[in-house]
Amino acid sequence: MSVSREMFNDVMVPNYNPAAMIPVKGEGSRLWDQEGREYIDFAGGIAVNCLGHCHPAMVKAIQEQSQKLWHLSNVFTNEPAIRLAKKLTDATFADRVYFANSGAEANEAALKLARRWALEEHGEHKKQIIAFSKGFHGRTFFTVTVGGQPAYSDGFGPKPGAVEHVPYNDLEALKSLISDNTCAVMMEPLQGEGGVITPDADFVKGVRELCDQHNALLIFDEVQTGFGRTGSLYAYQQLGVTPDILASAKSLGGGFPIGAMLTTDAIAQHLKPGTHGSTYGGNPLACAVAEAVFDVVNTDDVLAGVKHREALVKEHLQRINDKYHVFDEIRGKGMLIGAALNEKFEGRARDFLQAGNAEGVMVLVAGPNVVRFTPSLIIPETDIVEGMKRFEQAVAKVAG
Ligand SMILES: Cc1ncc(COP(=O)(O)O)c(C=O)c1O
Repeated sequence: MSVSREMFNDVMVPNYNPAAMIPVKGEGSRLWDQEGREYIDFAGGIAVNCLGHCHPAMVKAIQEQSQKLWHLSNVFTNEPAIRLAKKLTDATFADRVYFANSGAEANEAALKLARRWALEEHGEHKKQIIAFSKGFHGRTFFTVTVGGQPAYSDGFGPKPGAVEHVPYNDLEALKSLISDNTCAVMMEPLQGEGGVITPDADFVKGVRELCDQHNALLIFDEVQTGFGRTGSLYAYQQLGVTPDILASAKSLGGGFPIGAMLTTDAIAQHLKPGTHGSTYGGNPLACAVAEAVFDVVNTDDVLAGVKHREALVKEHLQRINDKYHVFDEIRGKGMLIGAALNEKFEGRARDFLQAGNAEGVMVLVAGPNVVRFTPSLIIPETDIVEGMKRFEQAVAKVAG
């Protein structure tokens, strides 16, 4: 059956509006569409394809696992899941792992665990969840309500309660809201979807201190920042702050759907048998792929390479901006970079994305004013140079 982009409009629920072309093949940081047109991929599947497309280690892992065992459910455990959990706990603060299938599900598990912990350790009054404006935590009803963009959670009936928001980077606002009734504070250690917003140096430490003062759990949503994205396995490892619960997904599977919630032994004990679960969580195929991704990403070579590439991408964006004067600020960390548009181009991030597609380079937006770049952590420098050449042509077109 031959398929076209027009068919999408006939057979799909209209909640997405994908690009006009359909990519059919990828290799490293290059993609090709149905017409054979080539694109440099600075989008990386929205911070998922951390090793680019069809990385040999991932292909090998899925081929080998696909000939052994695909699925069991959690009635049984499996070797890849245990191996992956062991590697994740050895490499982080966590003692225990819960596997899910997506970022939203990892966050959902984190929130449910926090509520159950608070109920059992402290009592019914301790139920408030505090999160931050513009934060994004997924699209289940609980996570989207905790996310800081009401437009995404409005219009679906009554929302889960006891969820409140304060501005990101505003410690005073948090201080005035947090109390002994607070169950957890949930945050991204660098806001991605909200516009690539870096936390102030003391902000994250301050959040940790306030959580400690009020016996509240600190949940880090590292769905976008995790798995090497900012130059360490997880972003918290560069911030001098350790969360109580951490959610991981996206790059964890490098393109295969998987999520994970990491936590300590003491907190984990509150999810007793039967309290939470997922048919596919810890699926052997997903865990085998994620283990292969882990083995490549969690090396000094790759993590140092992320920082080197960050400098290179920022240099190119600066050079483009010196010529066309479209950005106010170039920010972010590692391979999670945002170019915030200046007043003259306010609200036009999508124009840059579309012009990029036309020039053969894929970029993302983070809200209406930020062009976002989340390429593979190992994108070759030659692809950065070529992609930036194409992006410059796109900028030239939009800037007129
Ligand atoms: C920080 C963060 N949390 C959660 C999610 C949701 O992940 P998923 O779409 O896999 O459910 C995202 C997705 O963009 C994200 O960036």
